[in-house]
Amino acid sequence: MNKLIVSLLLTLGITGAAVAAGDPVKGDATAGQAKAGVCGACHGLDGNSPAPNFPKLAGQGERYLTKQMHDIKSGKRVVLEMTGLLTNLSDQELADIAAYFSSQKGSVGAADPKQVARGQDLFRGGNLEKGMPSCIGCHSPNGAGLAEAGFPHLGGQHAQYVAKQLTDFREGNRTNDGDTKIMQSIAAKLSNKDIEAVSQYIQGLH
Ligand code: HEC
Ligand code: HEC
Repeated sequence: MNKLIVSLLLTLGITGAAVAAGDPVKGDATAGQAKAGVCGACHGLDGNSPAPNFPKLAGQGERYLTKQMHDIKSGKRVVLEMTGLLTNLSDQELADIAAYFSSQKGSVGAADPKQVARGQDLFRGGNLEKGMPSCIGCHSPNGAGLAEAGFPHLGGQHAQYVAKQLTDFREGNRTNDGDTKIMQSIAAKLSNKDIEAVSQYIQGLH
């Protein structure tokens, strides 16, 4: 990874030592596909979940996916629907499944045209009055994120899922965003209407 980005991230304290050390376990997409069938029931066999409350995993960054799976497995992030599902999977198996979903092409939804302008303003410009940074610095203007740093891909994600995450971060129901609490502090500055608009915008973003 670019040295400048690494030092910036380390300064911000956003990533763990894992970035400097490199990935401990390298995933194998073909091996992962063979183990991902049980996940497909909710997330879609290719990771493009058909239901708006189940996140799309297709095209998501490997680092981010692996981290979420470890967090869900350890209970640091609570996903009741997945209780016990990851318990018997090794680090290698989790890495393989992450590699598989990451290699799939993510689909894009449609945004509610009435919400796009407000959503785009927030996503690209943040909220100066409240001192909230824009989203593009970390999630990039097209929503692709920054895979190497573990900043998730957002473009095309289901609005209902995105809105739930932002609300969970705001209400302290999702707290696995690291010591800097970056997403909790950002979500604290979003109103319900902001969340609705930016989530719609993200659903159509690509
Ligand atoms: C019964 C449905 C169900 C099954 C089966 C399931 N999941 Fe999930 N998964 C969910 C739900 C619901 C969420 C999001 C919960 C929330 O709102 O935070 C989720 C979240 C995730 C996330 C976080 C995504 C993100 O964008 O942060 C990952 C990664 C994940 N699941 C991986 C898996 C894997 C790997 C399997 C198979 C071993 C699996 N899931 C099986 C329902 C399921
Ligand atoms: C300084 C960097 C940064 C900024 C700015 C930022 N994010 Fe994030 N965001 C992150 C990181 C890092 C995560 C992953 C946290 C984790 O590991 O669980 C994340 C996670 C998310 C998630 C959860 C994704 C998923 O699949 O569950 C959503 C939704 C999100 N951000 C939306 C936004 C929005 C909307 C904005 C702007 C209002 C924003 N973010 C601004 C760094 C940032």
